[in-house]
Amino acid sequence: MFVSIEGIDGCGKTTQIKLLAEYLSQLGVEFTIVREPGGTRAGEEIRQILLHKDFQLCAESELLLFMAARAQIVREVVRPALESGRLVIADRFMDSSVAYQGVGRNLGQKVVQFMNSFVVGNTVPDITLYIDVPADVAMSRMRKEKKNDKIEVESLEFFERVRKGYERLMVENSKRFVLIDGRQAEEQVHEDIRKSLSVLIEKRKPNWR
Ligand code: TYD
Repeated sequence: MFVSIEGIDGCGKTTQIKLLAEYLSQLGVEFTIVREPGGTRAGEEIRQILLHKDFQLCAESELLLFMAARAQIVREVVRPALESGRLVIADRFMDSSVAYQGVGRNLGQKVVQFMNSFVVGNTVPDITLYIDVPADVAMSRMRKEKKNDKIEVESLEFFERVRKGYERLMVENSKRFVLIDGRQAEEQVHEDIRKSLSVLIEKRKPNWR
C-alpha cells in the first residue's frame, strides 16, 4: 500500500509523519518512509541544489529537478518496497509538484500532470492525506521554527496559490484524497490520520500491497 502526505509548508507534516511512524511500529507494520525531494543518492544531491544551494533556478528547471528526483526514488525505493509487500509512506509526492510548480509558480497544472504520469507511471498513491492549514497560519508557524529554505521564504500569496492548487487536486481526485484539518491540536490531527488509515490497514493485513 502506498500513502502520500501532502500540505503546504508549515502544515505540521513532519511532526505527523513522526507520530505515524511510532504508531505503525507499535502495530508491527513493516513500512518505508520516503522524502521528496531526496531519498536516493542522486535525489539528495538534487535536494541540495533545489533547496539550499545559491543557484538562480528558473521555475522550469526547478520543476525538472523535482521530477528527476522523483523518477529516481520511484525506481530505487518505492517500487521495490511495494513489491516486497511493505507499506510506503511518502512525505510529499506528485501532488506537491502540481500545487507548488503548476499552480504556485504558474507553470500550469496540465503540463505538470503530464510529466508526473511519465515519471511515476502507475505508481500512484492509494491514499493521499492532505493536511490543510490556511497560508497565514502556516507562515506564522514557519517563522516560529525559523525555517527558511528557498521555497519556505516565498510570499503569503505564493502559499495561498499552492493551497488553492491542493484544493483543486482534492476535488479532482476525491477518491484518493482525504482532507485532514491541520489547525487542530497535534494529537487530534494524528487521531484523524490513524482513523483514515485504519480501514485500509485492516483490509490489507498482513500484506500491504
Ligand atoms: P519538505 O521536505 O516538506 O520541507 P521540509 O524539509 O522543510 O519539511 O519540502 C521541501 C520543499 O520542496 C517544500 O517547500 C515543498 C517543495 N516541493 C516543491 O515545490 N515541489 C515538489 O514537487 C516537491 C516534492 C516539494
